[in-house]
Amino acid sequence: MMALRSVLLGVGGHLPERVLTNAELAERVDTSDEWIVARTGIRERRIAADGEKTSDLAIKAARAALEHAGRDAHDVDLIIVATATPDLTFPATAARVQAALGVVKGAAFDLQAVCSGFIFALATADNFLAREQAKLALVIGAETFSRIVDWEDRGTCVLFGDGAGAVVLEAQTCDTQRGVISTFLRTDGRMHDLLYVDGGPSETQTTGKLRMIGNAVFRQAVEHISGAMLEACARAGVSIDTVDWFVPHQANQRILDGVARRLGIPVEKVISTVAVHGNTSAASVPLALDAGVSDGRIKKGDLVLMEALGGGLTWGAALVRM
Ligand code: ACO
Repeated sequence: MMALRSVLLGVGGHLPERVLTNAELAERVDTSDEWIVARTGIRERRIAADGEKTSDLAIKAARAALEHAGRDAHDVDLIIVATATPDLTFPATAARVQAALGVVKGAAFDLQAVCSGFIFALATADNFLAREQAKLALVIGAETFSRIVDWEDRGTCVLFGDGAGAVVLEAQTCDTQRGVISTFLRTDGRMHDLLYVDGGPSETQTTGKLRMIGNAVFRQAVEHISGAMLEACARAGVSIDTVDWFVPHQANQRILDGVARRLGIPVEKVISTVAVHGNTSAASVPLALDAGVSDGRIKKGDLVLMEALGGGLTWGAALVRM
């Protein structure tokens, strides 16, 4: 049956040059490479240079995704930037990205769902394309969490990194199940205090620092991520065994392993970049997707299940046929 689908045409990523190793962090706070690797799987992360903004990373990732898609920026009519670390309180970082790319039509806006932001933005773009409100969408996850991390809190500063990833989605009428097949999104605001930033324009008139009750978030993560993945598959009427690749939010290798064990997923099918990216929040899923596509593991026609959980709490999953 012919149907309008959000087909994923291209993916791209960009990481800042500066690598921050666990050994360097151990000189700043009371931690060690052994502890960080054993508890998180993280070995290093990238940190934006002074003056390097979220929009700078987003623009580079967007250009890479457009090139991979073989599409011109002038044809883009929707830009969604998922970020919890915008350049400024307003206007949206997406507006800066739009101007830098030379796009002069359509809408551009930011979306805030912290680490789940890319999944929420993908689902939002899919709805715009399905309603024929846009034709060619850029969905970007971009973050500079180094700006909101408390560099004296060893419980959080070892986890996060900076980066951006992007995909290009085009509305196409297809007779096969291509592109975004199903999405599932959830928020439970009762868990606000497990993971938040203690500043903002309205409440404190400051930017604030990230605060997290890590072990409580960890417990929520395995349960809710697994549930979201099963729900996205159920909505599409496919069995999780038929998924070719799992592209998770890269929060902690132990969460990736816990979810894989719970759902009986072979670890070889899970794309993991957490060792070298750390947790890049909304950028982590598209950066991992880019890694899997660039090294040739994820191919055209493959069934890919992405998922994330973040502050809010928010969580979700998206099933995509490449
Ligand atoms: N180095 C050494 N010791 C540390 C460090 C560190 N970097 N950080 C914490 N510890 C200590 C703690 O102080 C504690 O010591 P104590 O027992 O003497 O009190 C001990 O290690 C155990 O602390 P836990 O927090 O229970 O350790 P846990 O095994 O849970 O690991 C971690 C902590 C890595 C943060 C883990 O809980 C985690 O990954 N949580 C999930 C994070 C996440 O998924 N976030 C979601 C997305 S992020 C977003 O949305 C922005």
